[in-house]
Amino acid sequence: MKIAIMGAMPEEIEPLLARVENARETVYAANTYYEAEYKGKEVVIAYSKIGKVFASLTAATLIEKFGCDMLLFSGVAGAIDPDLKVGDLIIADGLCQHDLDITAFGHPHGYVPEGKVCIPTDPYLRKVAKIVAIEKNLPLKEGIIATGDQFVANVERKSWIAKIFDAHALEMEGAAVAVVCNALEVPFFILRAISDSADLDAGFDFDAFLESSAKVSADFILDMVEAIEQ
Ligand code: ADE
Repeated sequence: MKIAIMGAMPEEIEPLLARVENARETVYAANTYYEAEYKGKEVVIAYSKIGKVFASLTAATLIEKFGCDMLLFSGVAGAIDPDLKVGDLIIADGLCQHDLDITAFGHPHGYVPEGKVCIPTDPYLRKVAKIVAIEKNLPLKEGIIATGDQFVANVERKSWIAKIFDAHALEMEGAAVAVVCNALEVPFFILRAISDSADLDAGFDFDAFLESSAKVSADFILDMVEAIEQ
């Protein structure tokens, strides 16, 4: 069992790299991959760079080149649900692409033929997350996460995404990872800790809370790695 752990930015994987053992670096397709061990399990860690295209490349590489059997994403997100505050954790039950639009042809937002508007995450990995949350006594939200190649810092855009996709949080990679893992039939899981509320202050809040929220998410993911049954 080889577990991929992916982030989008260096700050999202640095807290992971600080805690794993025997990390070996490989540079491939302009990205660095770290093969390492955590509590006796094999992990491969990488950050993709921001956005759906880079995320797809990294997810596919983790699976096809490094032979990972499952993929866990760790990172930060903008909150849509007003109950979600900075540092709170949300797991995706499904991921959709809020910026995918061929509505001109009568299709719903987020849909392309032969695709799905919302791709569900792996139920076993969600169950593991809930057990870890209970053990750590941490509140854990579950809901739809909307992905797009946009940093959202606009209440109108955020409300539109909430309305169309019934989404609780938004970010820039999750649905790309979902498309790749779904197509390659690899179980996957997306965890995000809130860094901002996708409003006018989002840019400022993101810079202020990226590191601390990324660490909350990374620490939780490593507890999940430990709890996953081989
Ligand atoms: N990731 C964290 N905050 C975000 C935001 N406001 N928009 C898009 N991605 C994000």
